[in-house]
Amino acid sequence: MNSDLNRSQLVEECDKAFADVLGADLTVPLVRGGETRYVNLDHAASTPPLRAVADHLALITPHYSSIHRGAGYASLVSTSMYEAARDSVARFLCARPDDKVVFTRNTTDSLNLLSRCVPGEVLVLDVEHHANLLPWQAGSHHVLLAADTLAETLAELNRTLAERGSALLAITGASNVTGEVVPLERIVEIAHRHGTRVVVDAAQLAPHRRIDVTRSDVDYVAFSGHKTYAPYGAGVLLGRPDWLDEAPPHLAGGGAVREVRLDGALWAAAPERHEAGSPNVLGVAALAKACDVVGELLGDASAEHEARLRERLVNGLERLDGVSTHRFWADCTDVIGVVTFSVAGYDAGLVAAYLSAEHGIGVRDGRFCAHPAITRLGLPRSGAVRASFGLGSRLDDADRLVAAVEQLLIEGPGWGYAQLNGRWTPAPDLRPMPEWLPVGTNAVPRLCS
Ligand code: ALA
Repeated sequence: MNSDLNRSQLVEECDKAFADVLGADLTVPLVRGGETRYVNLDHAASTPPLRAVADHLALITPHYSSIHRGAGYASLVSTSMYEAARDSVARFLCARPDDKVVFTRNTTDSLNLLSRCVPGEVLVLDVEHHANLLPWQAGSHHVLLAADTLAETLAELNRTLAERGSALLAITGASNVTGEVVPLERIVEIAHRHGTRVVVDAAQLAPHRRIDVTRSDVDYVAFSGHKTYAPYGAGVLLGRPDWLDEAPPHLAGGGAVREVRLDGALWAAAPERHEAGSPNVLGVAALAKACDVVGELLGDASAEHEARLRERLVNGLERLDGVSTHRFWADCTDVIGVVTFSVAGYDAGLVAAYLSAEHGIGVRDGRFCAHPAITRLGLPRSGAVRASFGLGSRLDDADRLVAAVEQLLIEGPGWGYAQLNGRWTPAPDLRPMPEWLPVGTNAVPRLCS
C-alpha cells in the first residue's frame, strides 16, 4: 500500500462521525441567503444528544411518574429507573463500592454542593473554569498560580500542599480553554501524600476520556449531562461518603429527611440528603443511558479520531499568517479536541459572528467562563475563539473552519457587523428563525463571557 493511499484512507475513515448524534444533518440559513450544513464546533459548551439517548428517552417517557412516593406501576418503574441510573454512573466512572452518586443539575451545582462539605481549606489553580473557582471563594481557600510548564506546576503543587495541608485540591481534568489534560493519577498521588483529597472537575474530561476512580483513587468527580450527550438537565457528584453524609443538605425539603418536627429535622444520608424535591427523573435516565453508551465508545479509537481532527485543525490554522493558537503548558502531551485561537486584527466576537453568519459554523468566543485563565494566556478582555470537537465531528468540520478563517484573512468579512448588547452581530441579520418559534422572535445577542 503506498503512502498516498494510506493518507486517503485515513481521511476517509476520519471523515466519518464517531457516533450518531441528533442535529448531525441540521442545515442553517446564511446571512447572504441560502443554507448550509451546520458545523457544530461548540461541544465544550454543550453536546447534542446521542441518537441512542434521544431514542431511549422516547421509549421510557410514557412510564414517567413521581419517584419514591407513588404506589402506581409507573411510579415503581420510574423509581427503579432513577436508582439504577446511579449504577450506570458508578460503572462509567469505575467507582469504588462505597462511593455515593448524587444527582445534581450540572458540574457547577455539584461543585457548589461539595463546597459546603469540605472540612478545611481548598486549593485551586488559577487556570480553572469559574465553576471550579467561585464556589470555593465563599470558604477557606488558596489559589496557586500554575507555572509555565506542567512539570513545574506539579512540583509547585507538591510544595504548596506540604506547606498548607489543604483538605481538598479542586482541579479540572481537561481545560475548557485549551483542552489540556492533567495527569490525574500523579496529581492524586501527590495530594494523598499530604492527606489532601482531590475533586476533579470532569465537565470536559468525562465526554472525551475514560475516568477510572478506583485506579486513580480520585476522591470526587463532578460532570454534566449536557456536555456528555444527554442535554436534559442532570449532573453528577460522585465520591466518598463521609463528607457527603455529614454536610448540610444541598437543598432543604421533602425527600431529604427521615423525620421532621416543627423545630427541626432528622436528615437522611447521602445521596437523598442532597436531592430534596421531585428530581429530574428523565434527565437522570438520559444521563445514565449516555454513560452506558459513551462508556462503550470512549477508548483508543475515539481518542485517535479526535487527535486526527485536532491535528488537522491546528495545522490548518497555524499555517495561516495572523492566526495563533493558545496553550498553558508546552510540555502537556494529552489534549482533548478543544482549540482556542486568535485572528490578528479581528475581535474574537467578530470572528465568531462571521463564522456563524457567512459559513454556518458554530464556535464560542470570549473568555469561556475562565477569566483568570484568559488573563494568564495574555489575551485581551474580548478573549479568543474556541472550536471544540465531539463524537459527531468529522474532518470536513475542521476543513470548513480553516477555509472560512483563511477567507476572512484574504477578503475580510463579506457582510456588515455591529455590536449589540456587547456582542458582535450581522447588521442587518437577515437569517430567518425556525417557523416553530413564536412569530417575531429574533436572535437577541447577549453577552456571556
Ligand atoms: N463551561 C462551558 C464552556 O466552556 C459552558 O463553554
